[in-house]
Amino acid sequence: MIESSSIKPGFAVVGCGKVGTALTKFLLDNGYQPVGFASRTLASARRLANLAKNDRFSELPWQITANAQIVFITTPDGAIEATCNAIAQNQGFSPGAIVLHCSGALSSTILKSAADAGAFVGSMHPLQSFASTEIRENPFLQIIISVEGDSRAVEASRTMSEDLGAVCMEIQTRAKMLYHAAAVVASNYLVTLMDLAFGLVEPAGIARSEALKAMAPLIQGTLANIEKVGIPEALTGPIARGDSQIVARHLEQIQDRAPGLLELYKTLGRHTVPIALAKKSLSAQAALELEKLLR
Ligand SMILES: NC(=O)c1ccc[n+]([C@@H]2O[C@H](COP(=O)([O-])OP(=O)(O)OC[C@H]3O[C@@H](n4cnc5c(N)ncnc54)[C@H](OP(=O)(O)O)[C@@H]3O)[C@@H](O)[C@H]2O)c1
Repeated sequence: MIESSSIKPGFAVVGCGKVGTALTKFLLDNGYQPVGFASRTLASARRLANLAKNDRFSELPWQITANAQIVFITTPDGAIEATCNAIAQNQGFSPGAIVLHCSGALSSTILKSAADAGAFVGSMHPLQSFASTEIRENPFLQIIISVEGDSRAVEASRTMSEDLGAVCMEIQTRAKMLYHAAAVVASNYLVTLMDLAFGLVEPAGIARSEALKAMAPLIQGTLANIEKVGIPEALTGPIARGDSQIVARHLEQIQDRAPGLLELYKTLGRHTVPIALAKKSLSAQAALELEKLLR
């Protein structure tokens, strides 16, 4: 006999793309029950239903959501709110159901129509890149899944995240967009930062294709140091040492050889001075000199 605590809830997926497929595959592996699948096209809904060995699929989401304890709306971000509204208008949410979306930028407030229908709403964002619906390895293993929303929705998201092998992190609903901005900085702007470094090394005679090879150990070493000792301790280099002469010479050469990159170099430098001050590795006088140079 199955203990009641081990019975996993039934879930429906609306939006049968990359994230909807990954959730389905690995929730099934953990004993969650498939209730139904809906997508913009019947072909996508059928494909995911087949994968789940389930025969309930539709282009009309409310036809498959009404009996689900958990409803995932995994359409593209721009379609989540309208999809939720359409399900609510067609009485597609049962009172007490948990309704979740997986957007990193949007909060659970866009699911208001489901909340008005008596559901508990939340967002459950996996910090992972899903590139395809062909998934073999569990993409949720040891990643962060950030959750926010009604306490019942957060609780259910936490349990599912842990079942999927992820680490659950609760964030504030009103700061969801800031959380997304942070992820953009950590991921996308790291690419921009590397582009800046390659742009500086090019006039020094190193081709971009070679630059990554040259800099990869430096990048990985820095990341390892950040993990090991944190910020500000991981900061090294001329600003950390208060070496304004070197920074002045950087500025001269950038002005001369890559002037389009000067402003970004200065801006990043200005943000680095307070980190060096927090590390207590430069004097207040040296910090003033650097700030003046980087203005
Ligand atoms: N991909 C990632 O790396 C990633 C990472 C974290 C979070 N997310 C989030 O996860 C969610 C889904 O993203 P995804 O990458 O899985 O997108 P996706 O692969 O493009 O899948 C979205 C699915 O939604 C369906 N769809 C589009 N409009 C619809 C509508 N009006 N009604 C019903 N279904 C509709 C599409 O259907 P058809 O196939 O039938 O045309 C498609 O299969 C988004 O909120 C996204 O921000 C994505």
